[in-house]
Amino acid sequence: MNLASLVRASSLSATSTSRILHRSIAIRPFSCCSISNIPISINPKTPIFLRPPTFSATLSDLQKWQNWAKTLASSVGSSFTDSDNGPDSHNLHRELNWLIEDALENPQSLLTSNEYEIDSVLNLRADLGDLYSLWKQRIEQRRPFQYVVGCEHWRDLVLSVEEGVLIPRPETELIVDLVDDVIKENEELKEGLWVDLGTGSGAIAIGIMRILGDFGRVIAIDLSSVAAQVASFNVKRYNLQGRTVTMVLASIDKISVKQGSWFEPLSEFEGQVAGLVSNPPYIPSGHISGLQAETNGEDQCRFLVDHMETVYDGSFYNLKIVPDFAGIDRFVTGIRS
Ligand SMILES: C[S@@+](CC[C@H](N)C(=O)[O-])C[C@H]1O[C@@H](n2cnc3c(N)ncnc32)[C@H](O)[C@@H]1O
Repeated sequence: MNLASLVRASSLSATSTSRILHRSIAIRPFSCCSISNIPISINPKTPIFLRPPTFSATLSDLQKWQNWAKTLASSVGSSFTDSDNGPDSHNLHRELNWLIEDALENPQSLLTSNEYEIDSVLNLRADLGDLYSLWKQRIEQRRPFQYVVGCEHWRDLVLSVEEGVLIPRPETELIVDLVDDVIKENEELKEGLWVDLGTGSGAIAIGIMRILGDFGRVIAIDLSSVAAQVASFNVKRYNLQGRTVTMVLASIDKISVKQGSWFEPLSEFEGQVAGLVSNPPYIPSGHISGLQAETNGEDQCRFLVDHMETVYDGSFYNLKIVPDFAGIDRFVTGIRS
């Protein structure tokens, strides 16, 4: 079977199709504006599927890599699942097909065209040598797939992620739904200033901004400079910084990313915050570089609520610690009185 038919077969799966659909819906142009407040000490890596197709390989060489990668994936069997509920060979084969989709300039043409010969040259977004090493990292070092390809699909977004930044989890989407419910009840909150404490990749901040009105704004805060820079990268991708508000012809940051600890960067916004959400750390900091708080999510949630009750006494109502779908206290929400 050639690569085209392999890609075609795999692409019929619902998940794979939804990845392609997500992409076509979610991608917005890059903007040239820079984000203030964040020192540029790292350069967030561009996810593979957004890189220019500056590499090439023959179909034959790509097939050789694919066959090697499939053999490696098959060798895993159910051993990862048995040891720590990791992916089995079936899931790894699916990931391999996603990696191929990301790496090819035009995966769709492989699906639809019969014109490819074994010596046809294909344009790639990653060097074939890098693809060998990335797949070895995935299987031999168990590097999370999202870090291998550099992105995660979350709601209708595709967010850049890299080591040091938490991969946004599906259950976190609940926070954006909670905000949506609240602003449907009180339309004024749609134009208010919202805060996402511990923003990570910026997922929640971007999700909230997309349901706010023209005058709504979000401040996204994280202690980690890697997270702050990756969040800034994602904010730029979705063109949510420095947008012009036409009625007053003023340029405001729809989302400002700030590096600092919890409420510290908010001192200048005292009395202005309409709503605040947080998904604080829930695993020991030693497991993620750049994660500072030595505590779990429940303690951190309690800290945030106590702080809002004492320091901002009476400023917020409906202060809540919200459990995730597994019933674990994970999120904090509060609305301005
Ligand atoms: C569980 S992650 C949540 C990331 C993101 N909001 C999400 O839901 O995908 C918690 C985040 O809190 C950040 N964090 C830890 N301690 C912090 C602090 N003292 N102030 C601000 N952010 C902090 C971590 O760097 C991390 O990005």
